[in-house]
Amino acid sequence: MFEFSFSTHVCEKNYFASEISTKNAIFAPILLTMKKQEILVTAKSPSNIAVVKYWGKHGCQLPNNPSISFTLSNCFTETSVEYNPKFQCGMQFLFEGVESPKFKEKIEKYIEKHGDLYRFDTEVFSHLKVESRNSFPHSSGIASSASSMSALVLCFLKLEKALNDDATPLDLRRASMLARLASGSASRSVYPVMALWGETPCVSDSSDEYAVPLENMVAPVFKTYHDTILIVSNKEKSVSSRVGHALMEGHPLAEKRYLTARCNTKRLLEALRTADLATFIDIAESEAVQLHELMATSNPPYKLMEPNTLKIIDEVHKFRENTDVPVCFTLDAGPNVHLLFPDEFSEKVNVFINDKLKSYCVDNQYISDIVKVF
Ligand code: DP6
Repeated sequence: MFEFSFSTHVCEKNYFASEISTKNAIFAPILLTMKKQEILVTAKSPSNIAVVKYWGKHGCQLPNNPSISFTLSNCFTETSVEYNPKFQCGMQFLFEGVESPKFKEKIEKYIEKHGDLYRFDTEVFSHLKVESRNSFPHSSGIASSASSMSALVLCFLKLEKALNDDATPLDLRRASMLARLASGSASRSVYPVMALWGETPCVSDSSDEYAVPLENMVAPVFKTYHDTILIVSNKEKSVSSRVGHALMEGHPLAEKRYLTARCNTKRLLEALRTADLATFIDIAESEAVQLHELMATSNPPYKLMEPNTLKIIDEVHKFRENTDVPVCFTLDAGPNVHLLFPDEFSEKVNVFINDKLKSYCVDNQYISDIVKVF
């Protein structure tokens, strides 16, 4: 099972306390109380890029169709949560060292709705200092809710373990479920390689409640995939994903979209298993275009693509036709283009990026990422 590269730090003096608690029951209660004075936990969680997209939800953060994503390596969030009963001013939140009321409000809403799912007194949440930072520049236009919310949830679960003296390994399925409640795409970030979120008859333990790992269901080539993110715009997007999901309610193409996504999930699972790159490319690109078509045909309609997004897409098509290099694009809910390709073609694709694509990016900016494999 995947082991996250995060760690829990309980202050040194407290390790001693928990050791004594098992050796000497008389001292245990006092010392355990001491232990719970200060706890610091940290977690690092990656971003992910969906190939089959989650777009539209119902009930309590349940998806209207299954989605499949690659988990990334270089784009991640690192979060620390410090618990100290002496912190008396409610939860404090710092993003890259600066207070962020917007993100704090998001966390507070999550805690208000779902805080009781953690195995500790919800009072604990008002004595926390949360600090978070992203590995990618915050003006890169990269959505960070998947990495940031999964990192936060992993911290809360580590805190739960520390408060309960629970040394059992982290339950990733529960982590995924709790992350889903914070942000749908975050449910997929807790697994390496690839993940599936949403029920499909093709995978027996799949569920709308949590994501499952696909690591053992994909051909080796997909474990070498690169995702190079071409930064067409670094501005905050004009319409948030939250609003976009809501616009799927009553959307004239909604039912058709959910059927297509279910069919694409089935086809993609088969293509991943058999290393069928042509089908992979077909699905990745049509899912990306469909996502943006749904935006263009919603009420009110909106567009997040920029002219340079379309120019890059044209260049990718031409390059693939002329070279047979199996590079394709996908898009998130924004104008930046994600180039997906197997490692063995990285030299050729990098030349292509430098010669042709870089000039369509803000300040020639792009981020090279690769699938997370451990
Ligand atoms: C286009 O997970 O950001 O990236 O559940 O409201 O937090 P919330 O939405 P979010 O939506 C992601 C949409 C997407 C496609 C995807 O990642 O599947």
